[in-house]
Amino acid sequence: MKQIHKALILTGLGQCSIARISGPGGEGPVLVAVEYSGINYKDALAVTGMAKIVRASFPFIPGIDLAGTVLESDLEDYKPGERVVLTGGGLGERYSGGYTQLQAVPSKYLLKIPVGMSTRTCMILGTAGLTAMLSIMVLEDHGVVDGEILVTGASSGVGMIAVTLLASLGYTVIASCGSTHLWHKLEGLGASRTINRISTDADRPLMHAQYDGVVDAAGGKALSAALPRVRVHGCVAASGNAAGAELNTTVYPFILRGITLTGIDSNTAPVEDRRVAWERLQQLVSERKADQLLMATVSLEDIASVCSAKIAGKAPGRFLVSTAGEM
Ligand SMILES: NC(=O)c1ccc[n+]([C@@H]2O[C@H](COP(=O)([O-])OP(=O)(O)OC[C@H]3O[C@@H](n4cnc5c(N)ncnc54)[C@H](OP(=O)(O)O)[C@@H]3O)[C@@H](O)[C@H]2O)c1
Repeated sequence: MKQIHKALILTGLGQCSIARISGPGGEGPVLVAVEYSGINYKDALAVTGMAKIVRASFPFIPGIDLAGTVLESDLEDYKPGERVVLTGGGLGERYSGGYTQLQAVPSKYLLKIPVGMSTRTCMILGTAGLTAMLSIMVLEDHGVVDGEILVTGASSGVGMIAVTLLASLGYTVIASCGSTHLWHKLEGLGASRTINRISTDADRPLMHAQYDGVVDAAGGKALSAALPRVRVHGCVAASGNAAGAELNTTVYPFILRGITLTGIDSNTAPVEDRRVAWERLQQLVSERKADQLLMATVSLEDIASVCSAKIAGKAPGRFLVSTAGEM
């Protein structure tokens, strides 16, 4: 297929432009008409060149997630007309990504969008939604099925979706972030209480045990501060690094309270876990709730400026990229 279409192309580290191209950027067996992508923190790092996210040569199409409709397929499992979602697994890092109208994608992590979920809602959730759901599944696996949960980086896409999911599952949610203008929104999504960023300043190895579990979308000082505040046999699901990559802790939360620290990597999550997570997202997030989560819908042309704003800390939360428009 030689259809002319539009894409955001990285021409070098931190350099991008909109181009009209012929044929998909990728070489996978399933050709997808991309309807939506998202702007994740990792996309912002890739597009601005603030971190070396792209592991392929330039020119390159970034975008770590996409949702759309199959146009052509070499595989029995995917038929033209089926709606599909792909997040991570190297998309927008090693393989040509979602910031385009047409993409030929690898099939390893390609999933059909659950029945009852629109393509738009699927990508409002995107990688952030999958990460939040996988985090909660880990808490459940470790026996944390009720009680008080701290969400760090609560203003992020991952954080806001985690707040929404935890509240609808009946947990009491404490949402922590520095974006105080979003506290009201977080309360609307189900947070019982909103608090500022937590940090380790003046902390002791064990603090008053407040939380049954933590969904950590911030990392760094926030994660270091959360660990001493987790109750006996509590669980922490860590996915973020926006607050830093270093972790300062002692063994005491682990050996005196038996807490568990588990890492979440949505990029390499097994396909069966993804399938379960997407089915649960379909059950837990209505179209109306998804709309509440959305910060803005933007075009391919807007991506670069939203990415710069994200890195500057001025655009947390879910930004949906609609690829609609002239081919
Ligand atoms: N492991 C995985 O599979 C996975 C998947 C998706 C995302 N992530 C990670 O999860 C995090 C959220 O991603 P996203 O795309 O949802 O992000 P996002 O919507 O762009 O939000 C960015 C978040 O970072 C927080 N932040 C920025 N600088 C900070 C600092 N110095 N100290 C504390 N918090 C800070 C902001 O909170 P404030 O309101 O406090 O500024 C905001 O909540 C990122 O670290 C991302 O890399 C991991």
